[in-house]
Amino acid sequence: MILEPVQPFRPSHFRVKFAVAPWERRACAALRRQVFCTEQGLFVEDDRDAIDAQAIPICALSTLAGDADAVVGTVRIHEVAERRGEWWGSRLAVARAFRGTAALGAGLIQVAVSSAHARGCTRFLAHVQERNVPLFQALHWASLDTLVLHGHPHHLMQADLAAYPPMDDPEHGLVTFRRAA
Ligand SMILES: CC(C)(COP(=O)(O)OP(=O)(O)OC[C@H]1O[C@@H](n2cnc3c(N)ncnc32)[C@H](O)[C@@H]1OP(=O)(O)O)[C@@H](O)C(=O)NCCC(=O)NCCS
Repeated sequence: MILEPVQPFRPSHFRVKFAVAPWERRACAALRRQVFCTEQGLFVEDDRDAIDAQAIPICALSTLAGDADAVVGTVRIHEVAERRGEWWGSRLAVARAFRGTAALGAGLIQVAVSSAHARGCTRFLAHVQERNVPLFQALHWASLDTLVLHGHPHHLMQADLAAYPPMDDPEHGLVTFRRAA
């Protein structure tokens, strides 16, 4: 009998959608802690803030045999209460092992902006870490200003809503596929 080494399981497609199930929301929070506290050290122990009380969490789910398996990416969106139509995205994070593999960052940004667009967004903004500005520019965002946040250089950026058609069913979301190796 010949025994072949087993390759680690690599999901081929991912669903990006609003995080509605409690386990999805818990996993989004855990991934944020992993990326923004442990990896980047921007916060100590916990990155939650007052915005979480009103923000909508979005998740990227890996799939196993067609079923949702794990949260491998997240972002949150919220509308500014005092300025109707102004929406913000924040805490964009993809698990390290999945970065650059399946356009998860781009998919999360797509669901974030397009779902806000469907909810009456007229201006979508984010504070983007300087190293990620080229990614956002490639995805039709413009830099409006520069500033330092949490001790790191950021750009205030705005999405071109024309590139983000309204998404009416973000609970269903979209699917991204692993790039060919
Ligand atoms: C930034 C981040 C979310 C991107 O996620 P990702 O899933 O790797 O991004 P994608 O695969 O969707 O990238 C889309 C495209 O942008 C490119 N890209 C990704 N990150 C980039 C960067 N920092 N600068 C320039 N291009 C970048 C990719 O190569 C890809 O190009 P392609 O489609 O031509 O191959 C991820 O790197 C991350 O979680 N980083 C740590 C946390 C962080 O920095 N959060 C953002 C705060 S603003």
